[in-house]
Parts: sequence; C-alpha cells; structure tokens
Amino acid sequence: MKDWKKAPRDGKSRQENTLSQPLKENRVFNNNKVLSEGWYPITESKKLKKGEASSFKLLDQRLALFRGMDGTVRAMDAFCPHMGADLGNGEVIDNKLRCYFHQWEFNGDGSVSKVPALETPPCNVKQAAYPVQEKYGQVWVFSGLEADHDVPVAPGLEESDADALFLKEITLFAHHHVLMAGGIDLNHFATVHNLDMEFDFEVKEEGSEFKWELEGALPKKGLKARFGRFLLGPLFRYQMKFSGGSVTSITYGHNQRFGGKGRELPALHILWGAIPQENGVSKVKIFLLTKKRKGVLGGITNFFLYFLTLFLLTILRDEDAKAFPNMRFQLGHLVKGDESVARLVQCLNKLPISPWYKTKSDKRKIDPEVWN
Ligand code: FES
Ligand SMILES: [Fe+2]
Repeated sequence: MKDWKKAPRDGKSRQENTLSQPLKENRVFNNNKVLSEGWYPITESKKLKKGEASSFKLLDQRLALFRGMDGTVRAMDAFCPHMGADLGNGEVIDNKLRCYFHQWEFNGDGSVSKVPALETPPCNVKQAAYPVQEKYGQVWVFSGLEADHDVPVAPGLEESDADALFLKEITLFAHHHVLMAGGIDLNHFATVHNLDMEFDFEVKEEGSEFKWELEGALPKKGLKARFGRFLLGPLFRYQMKFSGGSVTSITYGHNQRFGGKGRELPALHILWGAIPQENGVSKVKIFLLTKKRKGVLGGITNFFLYFLTLFLLTILRDEDAKAFPNMRFQLGHLVKGDESVARLVQCLNKLPISPWYKTKSDKRKIDPEVWN
C-alpha cells in the first residue's frame, strides 16, 4: 500500500470476516472489551491547574480528576453517589471536591467529608478513588484500586532521573498490545527491516512488568547491517519493558560499545503510554527519554540524543506501519521465530483485569487458547 499514512484507523477490520475467520478472543491480549490494571496517561499536567476539576473517559469508565490547592491530583469515579452528577463539573475546595448539584464534598480518597443538609455525613457512602502519578508532563491514572508498580521508566533509567520529551499522540491502526508484539516480533526483522538476524531473548517477570533482553548477531550484508556493525560491533542489543499491559518502553544500545570494543555508547530510550479506544484501536502518547544531564553541555547532549532517537523511531515506524492498515491482528499459525510473540501474549494474558471490567469479562465466554 503506497499511501499507508492515509489509511483509516477506525478499528473496523475487527468486525470483518467474522464468520469465515472468527477473531479469537484472548483473556487480555488484544482484547478491547477489557482493560488490564495499569497506568494510563489521561491528560497533560498543565491542562489541570490548581483548584480545577474535570472529567475524562477511559473506554466507558468516566473519572473525575481534580488538582487540590496542595498541587496534588486525585481521581475518583465521576458520578456522584448522591444523584449521579458528574463530579468533574464540581468545585475544588482546598483539597476536596464539591459536587455542583447539592454540594456534597469528597476527600481525595473518595470518602464524604460534608453533606450540607446533615450534621454528620453518611459513613457508608464512599466513592472509589484511584492512584494518580504525574510523570513526563502527564497525569497518569491507575485502572485499579492499588498500583503494584509506579509509572515506568525505560530500562536502564531506573536508577537515574530522567528527562522526557513528549513527542505527540497518535492513533494506531490496531490495539496497543499489537504495538507491543511488534517490538519483539523476531521474524519481522528480516522481512520488514531487512535485517536477517538470529535473536536470543530472555524474559524477567516482575509482578505485572515484563522485562525483555534481546540480543542478535548483525548480518554481514546490507547497508543497514554494515552500518550497524561499524557502530556497534557484531552484536545488536535492546531491552523492552511491558508494564501493566498499558506502557511499553524500549532501550536501544544498552551496554554497547563503539565498534563492539571502543567507548561506551549512550543508550536511546522511548516510552509509549496507551489510551485504548472503544473501536479496538489505541491512541498512544510517545515520549523520548534520556538521563538527566546538567549544564549547557548536558542540554546539547540530550538534544543530540533526542534527535538520534527520533531519527531511529522514524525509520522503524515507517517500515513497520505499512503492515498495519486493515490488519486484524490475531495469532494464527505460529512458526519458528514466533516464540517471542507467543510468550508476550502469555505474559499479558496473566495480568489482572481492571475492576471496571472484571464483572463483564468474568461473565463473558473467554476462549482459553493455548496460552492461558
Ligand atoms: S448529585 Fe452530587 S450532591 Fe447531589
Ligand atoms: Fe519493527
């Protein structure tokens, strides 16, 4: 397809060929009817000012967010337990949220602090509240009552402060789990990126985060491969981290030296935060990350690293994206080299499902598939 950039990103292919090629439903992977427990970048921090409230939708869950006078953002279910007004239309009083309709007031943990007509508020009424963190200039909300991990950083940046550049928000052609699978689809390196490599991979499972180390020998033929060998030596390494089924991060050049044995090369980091859509495709917010560096020299270094990351991202994106228009991703016949994709599906299918979807998904007939 020539003009793949203009191809529709409306998820309609999920509804096609349903009889002759039924879409197998996984418990979590690529399933647009559930949401895994993870962090989702709901809005830009600067759009929610001190003393402001607003409501947002994540699939069909409406959340009220407000920034208290202490600067902290809190999130809770949006519909007021009294008569259902949207708390996002309410008023921030100190660090509490007051419903517009009859002025019930809520603490950040969802408990009722004041009901105008009553001396003591009812103690049996509590709104569900959700963890919130601010990172990379975004407000992230966790789709569960308790977060078992923080908003992630890219592999290799865990021990240092990171600088981030929010690149943009794009709509994928598919569910964001397909983007994750694309990152470790080892067969496509030869077919899409013209890099015929044998990869080894290792997966570390840490709660709901899955860390991948991949290493492959660069081929000797081809312009890209020869440039790669000149820069990195015979081995190409990268790391990926899949967090809570919603955030993907990648680090290129971890532990690599110039020409394989010279100076240590700086690593390049990218992070994607997903916002799934009802039609089965996802929006993703893309961030470039670097280690925080101080001073003018640090600024120039980071600018250069951002530029390199962007360059790499553009090449890979253009090559990858052509595979996606009209794709209706599913695992059909797996062959040698597809083990890494199957492993990721297995990991994602183990994730806890958000309480917003639990009841619905438990009632659904779930195809157990081989991975469960
Ligand atoms: S609907 Fe919120 S206080 Fe009545
Ligand atoms: Fe790719």
